[in-house]
Amino acid sequence: MIDDALGDRSLVVVSNREPYVHEYVEGEPTAERPAGGLVTALDGVVAKTGGTWVAWGSGDADFDPAVAPDGEVAVPPGDSGGDPADDDRPGYTLSRLDLPRRLVENYYYGYSNQVLWPICHLEADPVTVDPAFAPAYREANRRFAERAVAADPDVVWFQDYHLALAPQYVREQRPDARLVQFWHVPWPTPEFFEICPQGTELLRGLLGNDAIGFHLERYAANFRDCVARFVPDAAVTESGTIRYDGRTVETYASPIGVDTERVAANARSDGATHYWDRVTDRYDLDPERSIVLGVDRLDYTKGVIERLDALAHLLETNPGLAGEFTYVQKGTRTREGIPAYRRYYDEVRDRIADLNGAYGTPDWTPVVYIEDDVDDRELAGLYRYADAAVVSSRRDGMNLVAKEFVAAQGQPAPNAGLAQADGLDRSTRNRTPGALVLSRFVGAAESLCPAALSVNPYDVAGFAETIRTALTMDETERRERAASMRASVREDDIDAWLATQTDVLTGESRIAADDD
Ligand code: ADP
Ligand code: G6P
Repeated sequence: MIDDALGDRSLVVVSNREPYVHEYVEGEPTAERPAGGLVTALDGVVAKTGGTWVAWGSGDADFDPAVAPDGEVAVPPGDSGGDPADDDRPGYTLSRLDLPRRLVENYYYGYSNQVLWPICHLEADPVTVDPAFAPAYREANRRFAERAVAADPDVVWFQDYHLALAPQYVREQRPDARLVQFWHVPWPTPEFFEICPQGTELLRGLLGNDAIGFHLERYAANFRDCVARFVPDAAVTESGTIRYDGRTVETYASPIGVDTERVAANARSDGATHYWDRVTDRYDLDPERSIVLGVDRLDYTKGVIERLDALAHLLETNPGLAGEFTYVQKGTRTREGIPAYRRYYDEVRDRIADLNGAYGTPDWTPVVYIEDDVDDRELAGLYRYADAAVVSSRRDGMNLVAKEFVAAQGQPAPNAGLAQADGLDRSTRNRTPGALVLSRFVGAAESLCPAALSVNPYDVAGFAETIRTALTMDETERRERAASMRASVREDDIDAWLATQTDVLTGESRIAADDD
């Protein structure tokens, strides 16, 4: 257990996104869990570390003072998912940082998501460099650093690209603390990183850490290449450590994973089945038709437009497939303060309408779009009852949706009572695990392919053909591929990731680094 490994040392986790957003919705207090891989992965993990989690308080400013954006909330283990009854986890303190609106606009919607996010995902077009962005990023990073230092930490664990400068700021005040950062998105090549006007400053900020982790060795290697090229006074050693400012900075790769037991339990739950029943009713889904599923934050990196183009091409070139399947797109709006994201949302909606207009018939709608806020069980219901899922990111650090889909598949048939209640024959449906179509440009492809069907989302004809393969795959092949994917998702699960982080956070991994 990580809290045992840390012993008396106090841990502070710092991320931009908070695990729960408290807001009033139509006058009613709500606590929503935001969609996103970082929060999904970390909430359960931090519940095990028992420390303090510093995050931007993004909810309503006038909320109950106990949970207001600039306060501390005790998050008990039960709130962090899992079953409170068999939970001996310590829970954690959520320390919310209330950032002024202007700062949020320039630091979060600006520098983080219009400069760093696109650069890390190798997307040059959306990069927007407004002169107000970089100063705001520095200011926000200072505020996060101050809050972390105020908690008097022995170990600080920074998360992701919003906080590249904070480690250096904390280092200046707490030279003795152990600082570690996990970078949840890809790290680009030096040729691409060079687009960033503040590149060297960011690298120096990150080198304030003792260790920096990435999902893949490829990303870590790109980071070291950037340091070698843009930080003249740093030296990259052959073993992958970096000598900088009289210290050794370690870089490591550790693929993040999912809590497979929890996802499987959610998929088996009544909540999952009831939600699927509601979806089936609401959209009049025919049980004879295969279900193909997509689950995405509506972000241009997710390749939703490319997917819809591939589906249109599939129907154009394979008229015999008309009426054979329904594509269910679960979408969640995201980063709506950014024009490119608002346009993307509209484009997805328009493209779906066009596709349904062109290929739909009176008794068949090819694409169903679901925008409900769903909880983990309901989402697991979509995963469970789908015959295939498509993840087609143009670029993605890891992609947890792919792993969650695999973990939710192959559950025993739901009870016969439910099956009879609405006439659906679930006793024969969905006991065979579904196929996964997966972009080769996501981190998860490294472990899931070739068992997952690999696609290049830019290759519309090849993509369409791969969806056809998924739809027509025989049961034996589906089972074999699913068994292989399941084994890999179990091996690289969230506990395996946490075990590596524990070694790094406690300094165990330094032994190797100090040897060279
Ligand atoms: P990202 O972190 O870029 O959003 P991931 O696939 O790694 O992409 O993680 C998304 C996480 O958010 C998953 O754990 C998923 O369960 C959760 N989530 C909840 N609702 C949605 C939704 N509508 N779309 C995408 N992800 C969702
Ligand atoms: C990705 C990023 C996370 C972020 C998440 C959701 O997973 O790596 O840092 O939290 O997307 O995005 P948001 O901007 O809503 O936090």
